[in-house]
Amino acid sequence: MKRDPLNISQSGSEFPLILGRDVSGVIMECGLDVKYFREGDEVWAAIPPWRQGSLAEFVVLSANEVSWKPKSLSHTEAAALPYVAATAWSALVNTGGLNKDNCTNKRILILGGSGGVGTFAIQLLKAWGAHVTVTCSQNAEGFVRGLRVDHVVDYTDGPVEEPLGALEKFHLILDNIGGDTERWALGLLKPWSGAKYVTLVTPFLQNTDLLGVADGMMQTAVTVATKALKHLAKGVHYRWGFFAPSGTALDEVKDLVDAGQIRAVVEETFSFSQVPQAFSKVEKGHARGKTVVEISKGESDSQG
Ligand SMILES: NC(=O)c1ccc[n+]([C@@H]2O[C@H](COP(=O)([O-])OP(=O)(O)OC[C@H]3O[C@@H](n4cnc5c(N)ncnc54)[C@H](OP(=O)(O)O)[C@@H]3O)[C@@H](O)[C@H]2O)c1
Repeated sequence: MKRDPLNISQSGSEFPLILGRDVSGVIMECGLDVKYFREGDEVWAAIPPWRQGSLAEFVVLSANEVSWKPKSLSHTEAAALPYVAATAWSALVNTGGLNKDNCTNKRILILGGSGGVGTFAIQLLKAWGAHVTVTCSQNAEGFVRGLRVDHVVDYTDGPVEEPLGALEKFHLILDNIGGDTERWALGLLKPWSGAKYVTLVTPFLQNTDLLGVADGMMQTAVTVATKALKHLAKGVHYRWGFFAPSGTALDEVKDLVDAGQIRAVVEETFSFSQVPQAFSKVEKGHARGKTVVEISKGESDSQG
């Protein structure tokens, strides 16, 4: 069943709603126009928000949203990556302008390094040769250092803006935390050098929930444009990042995974009957990587 988030007249049609954005499984059937995939291929994908989710035995996707699963990962491991990979890729590459050829020795700060997006972003940036600093709680320091982070600042030890302000300035900041970080984080960027602050914590969904799709989008556009102009006058770029499903981005991630440069960080695995417990765990926060639900066992594994 397809959901259309932009269809204002579709009120009341969102249920039943299937949650879960990550999928790793086997293709059961292909449309006539699909050229690159065949029945039986092992694939992974991040499902767009307007489609039903992955906590189901079957998922319908367009070919451009799908990618071949890394051979080196089980389906359970592979299901830990697509959504955070597509989100971090969209923020760092599409919005932040980073790529494998321009990261060497760039100084990147990730606010919130220990969760799903943070653990993926660290590994991608280290694979591309960047110098990566992260904030996380003290008990996650060993965990993020295991992902080859260069510098760690403990946010439970007092305001991070002081220790971060004493460091050399950054080329890019990825903000997974939001709140008041915008107040001080842009001052940590190298001004007049093309440096960017990209936040994944935006009021977009809150605006559309409160004001409806049209007014909410208008309000969102006005807010982001006002902030971008204000910071541009100080020589730094202010941007919002969003999850963007992409089979081609996952193709590149697959190569990095199979080359041993990125690994899946699975914190805990639940069976399908334990979905409520999986959500309770995720809602408590304090993630150290990803939580995976195993939908089925055996040859045609599918995970969400
Ligand atoms: N815009 C989009 O399209 C989009 C898409 C995906 C995600 N997001 C947003 O991106 C953010 C990150 O998502 P995620 O899936 O990676 O979250 P997550 O897996 O829940 O991880 C959040 C991490 O941040 C840590 N943390 C909490 N407060 C912190 C602080 N003040 N400083 C440093 N670390 C802190 C938590 O650990 P401790 O609490 O133990 O410190 C946890 O490890 C979320 O706000 C999410 O809503 C946006």
